[in-house]
Amino acid sequence: MIRRKRIWLIGAGSGIGKSLALKLAAAGNQVAISGRNVVGLDAVALEAASSGGAGKLFPVACDVTDDQQMASVLSSVETALGGLDMLIYCAGRCEYIDNADMKTDLFRRVYEVNVFGMVNAIQGALPLLKRSGNAPQIVGVASMSAVVGLPRAEAYGSSKAAAIYMLDALRLDLTDQKIDVTVVNPGFVETPMTDSNDFPMPFLMQGDQAADCIIAGVSKRKRTVNFPFKLWFSLKLAALFPSLWYRVIGPRLARNESST
Ligand SMILES: NC(=O)c1ccc[n+]([C@@H]2O[C@H](COP(=O)([O-])OP(=O)(O)OC[C@H]3O[C@@H](n4cnc5c(N)ncnc54)[C@H](OP(=O)(O)O)[C@@H]3O)[C@@H](O)[C@H]2O)c1
Repeated sequence: MIRRKRIWLIGAGSGIGKSLALKLAAAGNQVAISGRNVVGLDAVALEAASSGGAGKLFPVACDVTDDQQMASVLSSVETALGGLDMLIYCAGRCEYIDNADMKTDLFRRVYEVNVFGMVNAIQGALPLLKRSGNAPQIVGVASMSAVVGLPRAEAYGSSKAAAIYMLDALRLDLTDQKIDVTVVNPGFVETPMTDSNDFPMPFLMQGDQAADCIIAGVSKRKRTVNFPFKLWFSLKLAALFPSLWYRVIGPRLARNESST
């Protein structure tokens, strides 16, 4: 359980982030919740307040792709919470590639949120985390899609792979400062992001289940939190046998002009 923490949770207006925000508030944490949609954030804060948890949610709207806004939004987070013990970066954008059409603007949109937005958030949060004095921690939500190459995931999967590497490297550089870094790799979770997926999503989970897995792993200060285990194990197995994956199984999952 995560308790008595001052948390900045980005991507809290829907999906996994919303479930996390409600559970963190119920457990007595003070949480600044961010995203672009002010109405959505206010609704989450109201839901937390009306369910009477010991904690509180403070909406702080921001667009993670806006460098200047991200630099200035920290003062609102600090004012709301009086400091910061944990950053949870849960914002994300998913766009799939069709027919191997490698559109640079699509890649940029995805990378802006999944990579540069994360950099922006960490850059802003670090000075506050260094002053925390309450076991500071950075949590980045990446994805299991980064374990092996997946069809149509050239942009999304590679952005998550970049995020994982960045967080792994940062963990080393923050060891001396005693700031832990946790990478979260969800499998398929039913959220607005996956609502329009028209392919099978094995071992699909609910947002609440995903939030429980994240809270359990983060409170143990794990290096990585991977769920569900069955999908994680299957993908790791695929990575262990690359010829089988890339020559036999993977191509059967691919969708191309002749099959659409
Ligand atoms: N669902 C899955 O199966 C799955 C699997 C693996 C990993 N993940 C990852 O889990 C995280 C949460 O995703 P989700 O499934 O819960 O989807 P979601 O409901 O679409 O949540 C994504 C959140 O990101 C925020 N966001 C997007 N662009 C933003 C921007 N420019 N500035 C600020 N906030 C922004 C959105 O808020 P606003 O629209 O209000 O800005 C939204 O609350 C993402 O990182 C996703 O990649 C999800």
